Amino acid sequence: MAKRVLTTESGAPVADNQNSASAGLGGPLLLQDQHLLEKLARFNRERIPERVVHARGSGAYGYFEVTDDVTGFTRADFLSEVGKRTETFIRFSTVADSLGGADAVRDPRGFALKFYTDEGNYDLVGNNTPVFFIKDPIKFPDFIHSQKRDPFTGRQEPDNVWDFWAHSPEATHQVTWLMGDRGIPASYRHMNGYGSHTYQWTNAQGEAFFVKYHFKTNQGVRSLSADQAAELVGKDANSHQTDLLQAIERGVNPSWTLYVQVMPAAEAADYRFNPFDLTKVWPHADHPLQRVGRLVLDRNPDNVFAEVEQAAFSPNNFVPGIGPSPDKMLQGRLFAYADAHRYRLGVNHTQLPVNAPRTPVVDNYGRDGLHATRYGSRYDKNYEPNSYAGPAQTDAALSSPLAVHGWTGTHEAPAHAKDDDFFQAGELYRLMSEDEKGRLVANIAGGLSQVTRDDVIEKNLAHFHAADADYGKRVEEAVRALRED
Ligand code: HEM
Repeated sequence: MAKRVLTTESGAPVADNQNSASAGLGGPLLLQDQHLLEKLARFNRERIPERVVHARGSGAYGYFEVTDDVTGFTRADFLSEVGKRTETFIRFSTVADSLGGADAVRDPRGFALKFYTDEGNYDLVGNNTPVFFIKDPIKFPDFIHSQKRDPFTGRQEPDNVWDFWAHSPEATHQVTWLMGDRGIPASYRHMNGYGSHTYQWTNAQGEAFFVKYHFKTNQGVRSLSADQAAELVGKDANSHQTDLLQAIERGVNPSWTLYVQVMPAAEAADYRFNPFDLTKVWPHADHPLQRVGRLVLDRNPDNVFAEVEQAAFSPNNFVPGIGPSPDKMLQGRLFAYADAHRYRLGVNHTQLPVNAPRTPVVDNYGRDGLHATRYGSRYDKNYEPNSYAGPAQTDAALSSPLAVHGWTGTHEAPAHAKDDDFFQAGELYRLMSEDEKGRLVANIAGGLSQVTRDDVIEKNLAHFHAADADYGKRVEEAVRALRED
């Protein structure tokens, strides 16, 4: 096979890639060895900041195909016709650990999906859990600090994890979910994905609906017990990456069926609990699942760094017919992601191939900045309005307006008839089989019993008692037994 010519970054042929240039045979090295200098300098700059959460992940390309007519609810073009296909990129992730952590750990999994639609990119940045730990974004940095490595010990600390939850009764539902059987997925292929938040859809007539997204895995849900996971982590810390990569390389293309729950916008105000509360699910009896389409993953990225690590998803990337709900957590996220991308990847991250929209031409007056590759011709103006042929606004809002009233202030969310923090955690517990309840209690007790302060343990126990009397009693007994050991 004929070899290609090795070059420097400026394209000049490299004479020697094995020996640095030196002064004489055994002498010191020469500053004029451009290839050596450039190679060492580039190497020093190979790492970018890891994501502040969800640092560890795996990605794949694929497509979304519409299987059912949802035009009654949304005018989103990529959902406009049965059979329509849209290219996608997904990044799965764990949340709490740093880039070098292990895959098979008890932690939510990220499920971040980019649809390269004909009307721009639509990012749905969800998790494998339908709910979350908190309901106000102002708590997010504190929450994450408590779950990630402690700045003094450099380890995840049960004291911090449970102390935060002790002060966050609204986390009880998600804690029950996380400590239960689905808390450690067997792989990224064997878990569901959820938009988790409530989003807004608007149809061609301007009617608004609130929706929740559910991606059900067609591989079946499979999970690991705490013991199985510990063994797997020891054998292959990259078990999720290995599984996804190898499945797609073998041509076993994983797929998910997308369903939505739909609530007409007018029903939201009087629903029995706040439908924009991220710590709660909408019961299927109230809002049944309606099928939309199927997501298939069929191509591995060629370069994990360039494509998976440089992928940038933002819940703020909507397309016409889809918009945010007033969920406070979602509203906070509308800011956080693109801001993180500007820090992590720079202001022109949308021009990187994995992030660039496919069909539509990006046409605006944003210019320049570090690493700009997209700029106009000499005839394009960089201001607007102008008297030339530059791009102009459409006057068509992407989603429907929301009516608001009242005073500005740091309010709690409006109270609905049944807005307490515990009833859905109790319902989830009572749905479990006897065996599942036993494993849930053992998992919680395993963590909670490591906490050094009695008052933190008591506060957490009070949450499980409030969710369900039997649940609280069993966790309390199990924690006591472990602490007496
Ligand atoms: C106010 C609450 C939240 C804030 C401020 C927040 C912030 C962030 C930030 C800054 C990142 C790193 C982004 C990057 O560097 O590319 C991130 C990643 C991520 N977050 Fe959140 N987050 C919040 C809640 C959530 C929730 C509720 C979910 C799921 C429903 C979620 C799912 C994800 C996922 C999947 C990623 C990884 C995206 C990827 O693979 O690139 N986050 N979050």
